[in-house]
Amino acid sequence: MSISVVILAAGQGTRMKSQTPKVLHEISGKPMLFHAIDAAQQISDDVTIVLYHQAERIRQAVEAHYGNIMFHMQDAQQFPGTGGAMKGVHTRHDRTLILNGDMPLITKGSLEALCAGDADINMSVIELDNPSGYGRVVIKDGEVQEIVEQKDCTPQQLAFKTVNAGIYAVNTDLLERYIPQLDNNNAQKEYYLTDIIKMAVDEGRHVHPVYVAEEEFKGVNSKLDLAHAEEIMQRRIKHALMMQGVIMRLPETIYIDCRATFEGECILENGVSILGESHLVQAHIKTNSVVEDSIVEYSDVGPMGRIRPGSVLKHTHIGNFVEVKKSSLTGVKAGHLAYIGDASIDEGSNIGAGVITCNYDGKQKYKTVIGKNVFVGSDSQLVAPVTIEDDVMIAAGTTVNKDVEKGALAISRTPIRTVKDFFYKFFGDK
Ligand code: UD1
Ligand code: CA
Repeated sequence: MSISVVILAAGQGTRMKSQTPKVLHEISGKPMLFHAIDAAQQISDDVTIVLYHQAERIRQAVEAHYGNIMFHMQDAQQFPGTGGAMKGVHTRHDRTLILNGDMPLITKGSLEALCAGDADINMSVIELDNPSGYGRVVIKDGEVQEIVEQKDCTPQQLAFKTVNAGIYAVNTDLLERYIPQLDNNNAQKEYYLTDIIKMAVDEGRHVHPVYVAEEEFKGVNSKLDLAHAEEIMQRRIKHALMMQGVIMRLPETIYIDCRATFEGECILENGVSILGESHLVQAHIKTNSVVEDSIVEYSDVGPMGRIRPGSVLKHTHIGNFVEVKKSSLTGVKAGHLAYIGDASIDEGSNIGAGVITCNYDGKQKYKTVIGKNVFVGSDSQLVAPVTIEDDVMIAAGTTVNKDVEKGALAISRTPIRTVKDFFYKFFGDK
């Protein structure tokens, strides 16, 4: 489909009460503007974002992830408002879809519905019991006549329940002609994009209302809206994954980043978080475990396991209270209470309870390399950098601070001393 998209994101977002630009607040692991960009790029190869407040920060964030986006700086001092935002924007295709950057829940299907048909303008409308805050839409004989902003409404218009959801698909020629004609003779002294509707109607053009789902078009303006949008996005993500074959116990207690991917029949128990760009294959993640930016294949984690960024687990068992960071484990068992950081551990190795990789000396991080079939006894410390070759046994309580060669036993142990009858001397005879 040849359609251009303009995403309006120049507004200040004051109600968000944040130092972070509104559109960079994240929903399911991705800034809300990125959700809008993703939807836009599914239908268009010509996407322009209009910026003003914190423009550089937003532009940098977008450019770090997307290569083919155009930016337009609004002259918001001279031309405030949604119409002002469109001044000087030029698009390539015959039709231009105008979106808001704070509508992360919008889907490709709805955008397509807005672009369909041959009316000069399609605009999104919703019926709301409480229309407060929105522009009211005047519809006659199934055609839109006018949009009146709340602050400009007559008492009678205020009662209208059909409101402008803020998205329009407009014949580009008309847009180019109408935008320069906008004025700011209204209660807010702003240039209203919505005034193009009346201009079109006055010329006998057709403005068609497209009724859309409120859920997708509710703008995110506050942190309350943000939390609500997050809930909806989570429901969608989990719904799709369960249909794909992922088993979820009490899904409402599970959190999954929109970038996470799953293969095979994975099981997620209650309270699990799958964060970042994690990839799980045939994995079983047990109660209250966290997996972040890691790959977990044919492995089980938890309950209460923590897999931190950069880890790769294959055919591995990670038990309770085990933390793994930036480590590769293949065919490993680490059943209880361990910290494995900056390590690589090979097949058949067992990590006992209380084992710690001492990977940090206060200045730098170092690697621990453990070969095949290594048995690391409980409560051992592996002081990195250190290499333990294949078929090694580390005795319980050993501090390994030099490399251990293939087939050896490493044991460092303070000899035990016993003092006969000490208990009775200390506490007296019972
Ligand atoms: C606008 C519509 C209103 C509609 C509502 C739906 C106008 C005049 N009114 O309201 O009819 O019901 O959206 O949400 O268009 N923006 C800019 N530059 C600006 C001002 C806003 O880029 O100078 C962007 C914002 O970043 C935001 C979008 O435009 O993404 C909408 O702005 P917002 O202030 O939320 O909309 P309203 O003007 O209140
Ligand atoms: Ca406004």
